[in-house]
Amino acid sequence: MTSIRDSIQIGPVRFDSRIILAPMDGYSDNPFRLLTRRLGSGASFTEFINTIEVMSKNTKYQDRCRFAPEERPVAIQIFDDNVDRLVAGGNRVYELFKPDLIDVNMGCSVNHVSNRGAGAGLLRRPDKVEQIISGLVNSLPCPISAKIRLGWDADSINYLEIGQICEDQGAAMVTLHARTREQLFKGEADWNAIAALKARLSIPVFGNGDIDSFAEAERMIAETGCDGVMIGRAAMENPWIFAGYDPATVPFALFYTTILDHYALVKKRYEPMRGCIVFRKFAKKYLTQLGAAKDDIRRLITTKDPTEFETLLNRLASEDRRNRFLEEDLGADA
Ligand SMILES: Cc1cc2nc3c(=O)[nH]c(=O)nc-3n(C[C@H](O)[C@H](O)[C@H](O)COP(=O)(O)O)c2cc1C
Repeated sequence: MTSIRDSIQIGPVRFDSRIILAPMDGYSDNPFRLLTRRLGSGASFTEFINTIEVMSKNTKYQDRCRFAPEERPVAIQIFDDNVDRLVAGGNRVYELFKPDLIDVNMGCSVNHVSNRGAGAGLLRRPDKVEQIISGLVNSLPCPISAKIRLGWDADSINYLEIGQICEDQGAAMVTLHARTREQLFKGEADWNAIAALKARLSIPVFGNGDIDSFAEAERMIAETGCDGVMIGRAAMENPWIFAGYDPATVPFALFYTTILDHYALVKKRYEPMRGCIVFRKFAKKYLTQLGAAKDDIRRLITTKDPTEFETLLNRLASEDRRNRFLEEDLGADA
């Protein structure tokens, strides 16, 4: 039987495991991808990159494409509504960064993206999907993948058609976030659709949507037969999911060192104030789980002084560390 820890070939590229951090704008940056790769995520998918920016003179987007060699295999994810610009942008990104894959976003539900026909908006244009995948496959030496949703809305469910087009045009992998665009993040992801897509396609199918524990990741693979899973929101507060843990079971030493390792990676990557802003949202989740006082967390996430941020983070993490050890001691005595 397939194990989540088994590697998997995506065309010529080998993912180290079948549990992968989902691409998430504002979260799956280089530090968080590195952290989760070290914890067991089988590959790195970047935040989505707008090929309008790639094809402009502005080079700011390049920061979001940069990755560490240790992150490989890396997929850079691109999005657009314009076929030629998307294909040209994919080529430019490949030339500059040499990722292992290029992934096309066909699932973003955000209004200003999907309403202009990009992201999940592409699901309404199977003709464009065909041109995009064939254009990229025929112009790039690396595998091309796509991340899709069920369809635009309940009346236009077409993931089987879209998945088939991707496969026919030479895509090496499809990931299905099993909701429609209309659902955004509401309702339940339809895992039966993941099973149906897997039954339909020959290329690897990754399932995505609502996995909140390692056991649920295993369940998705067992129940749908999908080749692997992507984890999004659950990873934000539980990066240990890639190592097989849930917040209640993660060894405390690992919990604690992860906070500091993550912050060290953020510090290395960003200017001091930007680093604090990037790390705030993670710090809040980590420290809340550690039981830090609300007022302390509020102070940490509102300070505009990077030195104070770091001092507070170290104090809170170590204070809560001590409390947690005391709790564990008391637990052992009881
Ligand atoms: C804050 C946020 C940002 C996201 N950004 C992206 C993105 O850039 N590209 C993409 O394909 N999906 C993006 N997604 C969708 C996730 O990759 C994933 O499909 C979705 O969260 C469902 O999986 P989950 O239930 O494990 O969270 C984003 C989701 C969230 C919550």
